[in-house]
Amino acid sequence: MQRIPLLAGNWKMFPTLAEATELARGISTPAIPAGRQVMLAPPAPYLHGVGEILRESGVILASQNICWEAKGAFTGEISPTMLKEAGGTMAIVGHSERRQIFGETDKMVNTRLLGALQHDIIPILCIGETLEEREKEQTLAILEGQLLKGLTNVPNHSRSKIIVAYEPVWAIGTGKTATSKQAQEAHAFIRTALADIFDKTIAEQIRILYGGSVNPTTVDELMAEPDVDGALVGGAALQTDSFLRIINYTA
Ligand code: PGA
Repeated sequence: MQRIPLLAGNWKMFPTLAEATELARGISTPAIPAGRQVMLAPPAPYLHGVGEILRESGVILASQNICWEAKGAFTGEISPTMLKEAGGTMAIVGHSERRQIFGETDKMVNTRLLGALQHDIIPILCIGETLEEREKEQTLAILEGQLLKGLTNVPNHSRSKIIVAYEPVWAIGTGKTATSKQAQEAHAFIRTALADIFDKTIAEQIRILYGGSVNPTTVDELMAEPDVDGALVGGAALQTDSFLRIINYTA
């Protein structure tokens, strides 16, 4: 099964408008290597402007979170239809910062994921264990639980569109990348769990990204693993050169 590698940049709440504009121009100007996809998730206030820059470049625009409703009294939320108006087609859901800092539960993450799919937005479901959970050897149970709860009630026809991102919390923003072996082990487990939740054919189609301190020196080894289908990159996506190097990883 051929899964198209996805190199995704999550800018979080970092860049100024000027930096975001420069980054979007820098990333969208060179041609995307054949057979790969590139995605950028700017802060919400920049979605429209970055969307204008990315238009016709082939670089995918995404939001860092998504509401399940198209409009209404949801102060502070990002509407799927507004994202689409800005040119966006993907959304990150359940990032560990949303879960840990803003108290988003598996149930809420599931509602966001279902809402995204309903509006033809591809959700990137983030899952991952904390250091404490890893040390207690609970990693696989945590991943399985987050998958099961996050993927409840997904209709048949949209299952294969979902993207999963394995982001061990201890590796995010810490400079500690999981080794390629640790990543492959978790990804293989996630694919097996997806086969149990959906079925084997769907599981083979779903892309599983790795996230957590991915940088130009670790990306090649990570991408060489059979079940690593891309990267969700924070810090190293904030510099044009380093993200371009990640996009152009050597397989
Ligand atoms: P990082 O962030 O690359 O800075 O560790 C990854 C993420 O949070 O998606």
